[in-house]
Amino acid sequence: MNTFPIILGIESSCDDTAAAVIQKNKILSNVVAGQKVHQSYGGVVPELASRAHQQNIVPVVNEALKQAGITKDQLSAIAYTRGPGLMGSLLVGSSFAKSFSMALGIPLIEVNHMQGHILAHFIEDANEKPPEFPFLCLTVSGGHTQIVKVSDYFEMEILGETIDDAAGEAFDKAGKIMGLDYPSGPIIDKLAKQGNPERFHFSKPKVDGLNYSFSGLKTGILYFINKEVEKNHDFVNENLDDLCASIQKTIVDILMDKLIKAAKQTGIRQLAIAGGVSANSEIRERLKEFQKEKGFEVFIPKFSYTTDNAAMIAMAGQLKFELHDFSELTIPSVAKYHI
Ligand code: KG4
Ligand code: ZN
Repeated sequence: MNTFPIILGIESSCDDTAAAVIQKNKILSNVVAGQKVHQSYGGVVPELASRAHQQNIVPVVNEALKQAGITKDQLSAIAYTRGPGLMGSLLVGSSFAKSFSMALGIPLIEVNHMQGHILAHFIEDANEKPPEFPFLCLTVSGGHTQIVKVSDYFEMEILGETIDDAAGEAFDKAGKIMGLDYPSGPIIDKLAKQGNPERFHFSKPKVDGLNYSFSGLKTGILYFINKEVEKNHDFVNENLDDLCASIQKTIVDILMDKLIKAAKQTGIRQLAIAGGVSANSEIRERLKEFQKEKGFEVFIPKFSYTTDNAAMIAMAGQLKFELHDFSELTIPSVAKYHI
């Protein structure tokens, strides 16, 4: 093993307990334990999430060290998610990270989860090559929808964001209305492949500037489906693929319209995506079309670095380590954390 610092990343902001090890931008291990317990609730149950994190955190970290082929004594620092997220979930990761860094006598590094999603682009195998500054990043997850201008690793400006629901929530709530399990995003993505996206039309929000809104779409879908189900009880089952394709197209149209508007306004030609919803196949396809037809340079990260993971936290941690940007043990976790 050479002498470059080795950082352990820990992520526990929502319902995934994750640990990863990085050295010189290269991920040595990336372990995620999801939580099936929320599937039938239509969303994450915070109390159940913190309990599952408590059970998972030690085995997940052990596994990450094992897969990386290192022992804890070889670690140079511990990076962890400080926020944003569910407080009970964040506290499990932060308490573990603080105790571990204290026991090993190595630095503690706090990471903003949303910055982590964006900085995942700098992991060696995330893309063919990393984006250059400045670039625009559409950061779309279960809790956030933001267009971010990234001028440097830790110099980020939100140009637009959702004024109500996040794009991931729009997928998940639409899924709940159709009786699908949580999280519905990946299920809708899969079913949409066999459906007709032009079959149903849902009205798009009119929001100023580069901001987004998804709550009206959710209500529109609910009213439409309720009305159709009154006429035919089996409406959802009989039309599930077309419903998924039409809903997905509407959400992706809304996301892409504002991203292109942001590119026009700023003159920035490099476009990236990040966050769980960026795993969506239609978003990825649409961006590739932008590259071919409009000449943008696009950056689409590897799947395993899109939904919540600790590799992105380890990456952000390594960049902070290089800046000697360390944290005190007294630093509190925060449910809201502006990038
Ligand atoms: O980033 P993430 O793993 O967790 C948060 O920080 O929120 O994002 C989770 C969100 C969920 O809403 C999930 O439905 C959505 O990402 N998602 C997808 C896909 N995979 C995950 N949405 C659409 N298509 C997908 N393939
Ligand atoms: Zn996330």
